[in-house]
Amino acid sequence: MSEWTRDERYQRYEDIDQEVMDELTERVNQSKYRQLFHIQPKTGLLNDPNGLIYYKGEYYISHQWFPLGAVHGLKYWYTYKSKDLINFEDQGISLKPDTKDDSHGVYSGSAFTYHNNLYYMYTGNHRDENWNRKSTQHIAKVLDNGEVQKFPKAVIAAPPSGYTQHFRDPKVFVKDGIYYAVIAAQNEDGYGRILQYQSTDIVNWTFQGEIKTKLEAFGFMWECPDYFNLDGFDLLLFCPQGIEPEGEKFRNIYQSGYIMGQYDIDHLVMDHGDFHELDYGFDFYAPQTFTDEFGDRILIGWMGLPEVTYPTDSDGWAHCLTIPRILTIEQGNLKQRPIKALQQLRTNKETALGYANKFTRFLKPYEGKQFELIIDILENEATEIYFEIRASKSQSLRIAYNTKNKKITLDRSESGALPEPVEGKTRSTYLDTPLSQLQMFVDTSSIELFCNDGERVMTSRIFTDDDAIGFKASTESGQAFLNFTKYDIKGGQ
Ligand code: FRU
Repeated sequence: MSEWTRDERYQRYEDIDQEVMDELTERVNQSKYRQLFHIQPKTGLLNDPNGLIYYKGEYYISHQWFPLGAVHGLKYWYTYKSKDLINFEDQGISLKPDTKDDSHGVYSGSAFTYHNNLYYMYTGNHRDENWNRKSTQHIAKVLDNGEVQKFPKAVIAAPPSGYTQHFRDPKVFVKDGIYYAVIAAQNEDGYGRILQYQSTDIVNWTFQGEIKTKLEAFGFMWECPDYFNLDGFDLLLFCPQGIEPEGEKFRNIYQSGYIMGQYDIDHLVMDHGDFHELDYGFDFYAPQTFTDEFGDRILIGWMGLPEVTYPTDSDGWAHCLTIPRILTIEQGNLKQRPIKALQQLRTNKETALGYANKFTRFLKPYEGKQFELIIDILENEATEIYFEIRASKSQSLRIAYNTKNKKITLDRSESGALPEPVEGKTRSTYLDTPLSQLQMFVDTSSIELFCNDGERVMTSRIFTDDDAIGFKASTESGQAFLNFTKYDIKGGQ
């Protein structure tokens, strides 16, 4: 594919001929990798989820969008509404780059309510004639008819002194009636930080300082911060950039994870344990959380990464959002499970019970491209268990579990087309407890693998050929007694 020039990447969607968009749409619709039950861009590139909130009986879900192709260019917010987080009503563009401050993109942000009205806080990205960045933070009000009205000027007009123009992604939350925003930043020593602002009227924001953590030198930028209290624990989520791999950890180009402990919001001190990744797959970044109608904490991520070329790019589109996950803390550990509402997408149940051994078996009923599969490991005397999904004679995505060290591995080396550049063809994590269950949501070109009922999640895009629709099970030696439950999945509306 030919390189996009800067001018091409900063063309306005409004200036493009309908004919050109129709042609692009046609090309995208013919892509064999189009998803069935994930939010994906109708054309162009989707990245971070933005402005997630449950408001007046409806969920609002937006995402970063560059409409014209599978590259990072001039960003808009594209919005969906939903009553149940599985059927989505397309609202189209909600925020566009139409002021000087956001002339080079309406960047990521969050949603909140103030006096029962809905607002977004987001970053305006501007470049001057020398391509120097200027980042400002803005607020817009969402009217009942869906129209979004920007406040006339920035509510935070510049980063505080001591920080660079890498200053973005405000996440607003309310505590004891006071509004707070945590904002991604970079200090002048070139390290990622999170800054905290406070307001009582949402127009005037006071800089309180940087959140003090034990992570002094942990990457050059921390994107997309999020803060919340869950079951008595404070969690700070962020996406550090510039972390070196450590064994099986931190192998993607950029990371996405959390620190957990107790946060003293008045003194901005976070007392915390280690930084943990949220997801151990190949394709996960920039998640955002919100509370649902039941008061549960839900997370949605971007199933993709910056600076990586994907096999869909040549079809004129890239990326999708993850399915929503519900977060809980159990025995001091974060658990992530698919939201219950996804069960409404299930059709056509099939089950099977049987042994897997060293002879690879194709299990016929488990065929298809979009399905939910639950494997209960009832007994395990195998040294290693292997599952191959989306399998043909020559391709498959392999999931391997090593009984001895509880290591679970996603292996994309035989899975067809691959994103690039990506370090290695496997991703692994060590489970806390022996493998008892795998629950996977497989769409046309992705898998979200939940291990041991929310203990670990591995999210990856997969680009196997059309005939790779089988499922295989085997072991290295010894046998495992397994129960399979498979549902076909229908798309939401
Ligand atoms: C994260 C990010 C954000 C920024 C947005 C721009 O993927 O780089 O920091 O606001 O994407 O699209």
